[in-house]
Amino acid sequence: MGGGVELATLAQPAAKPTSGNMRRFKLPPQIIRLVLLAAAIVGSYLIARTFLTPPSFGAYGWYRGNALGEIANSRDPLFAGKQACDECHSDLLHQLASNAHKTLSCEGCHGVCSEHAANPDILPVKATGSHCIRCHEADISRPKWLKQIVVKDHYGVNCKECHLPHQPTKEPGTTAK
Ligand code: HEC
Ligand code: HEC
Ligand code: HEC
Ligand code: HEC
Repeated sequence: MGGGVELATLAQPAAKPTSGNMRRFKLPPQIIRLVLLAAAIVGSYLIARTFLTPPSFGAYGWYRGNALGEIANSRDPLFAGKQACDECHSDLLHQLASNAHKTLSCEGCHGVCSEHAANPDILPVKATGSHCIRCHEADISRPKWLKQIVVKDHYGVNCKECHLPHQPTKEPGTTAK
């Protein structure tokens, strides 16, 4: 219905092309639709982002700030730390601090001791000479300042015969334990 009228209106612009083209530039309708579609996509993305981004995102960096607390609270600390040993082994803490091993932590050699620190009846795993080699066996990748030995050329494999673990430059028997 009314087909004739519509055809007439559609045909109108084409009828006088010269003046219309010169005066104002008209975007073709398919471009307008593409621009609207793009705006709708970007808009819906921005709206979704405001609702879906967790509030703490970006507080410290490109991640959810609250995640730090969640991770920290979901795990119990493994190591007790040197201070925890002070209560019962303060003499050993002083011995260690007085010699070459002062920078080491107790648990670096004795393994995790938090259970032991809470309940001394649970003893830590026995420390053996293999603990020494772990750090002192000569290796090109180790820093120069760390004293290194080639174990088979050194004096023996039972390190504790000649080095007090807590005061490694001292021989056993030279200091009271
Ligand atoms: C509440 C007191 C207490 C605390 C805290 C404590 N210990 Fe002990 N520890 C003991 C007792 C008691 C023994 C058994 C007697 C001994 O050998 O001196 C012991 C023994 C040890 C032994 C020898 C185990 C063996 O096989 O003979 C090691 C190693 C040790 N403790 C390391 C630690 C470290 C490392 C810490 C700190 C993280 C620590 N302890 C904290 C009380 C404690
Ligand atoms: C370099 C490694 C190393 C470090 C660091 C170290 N230990 Fe030891 N510790 C040993 C070894 C090895 C033995 C076993 C000694 C033995 O069998 O004669 C030992 C023995 C012990 C013992 C048994 C009793 C004794 O005096 O022999 C206790 C308790 C102890 N350590 C506590 C500590 C505490 C507390 C610290 C931190 C202040 C610490 N250790 C740091 C290697 C280490
Ligand atoms: C966790 C690593 C580590 C372990 C395990 C370790 N040491 Fe050490 N040791 C060090 C560091 C670090 C130093 C200080 C830097 C240095 O002098 O090389 C040191 C220093 C020494 C020195 C002094 C060297 C000097 O003349 O100044 C001796 C000796 C020594 N350690 C022997 C031992 C013995 C024996 C053991 C085993 C009971 C042992 N170390 C276990 C890290 C370690
Ligand atoms: C029979 C005694 C004896 C035994 C066993 C022994 N050492 Fe030594 N160690 C010494 C003497 C003495 C020195 C110092 C003089 C030297 O470096 O030759 C020394 C020096 C060291 C040094 C310092 C090296 C440097 O460059 O200054 C380290 C590290 C060391 N020993 C680690 C160990 C380790 C680890 C063991 C066990 C695998 C061990 N020692 C076993 C006697 C011994």
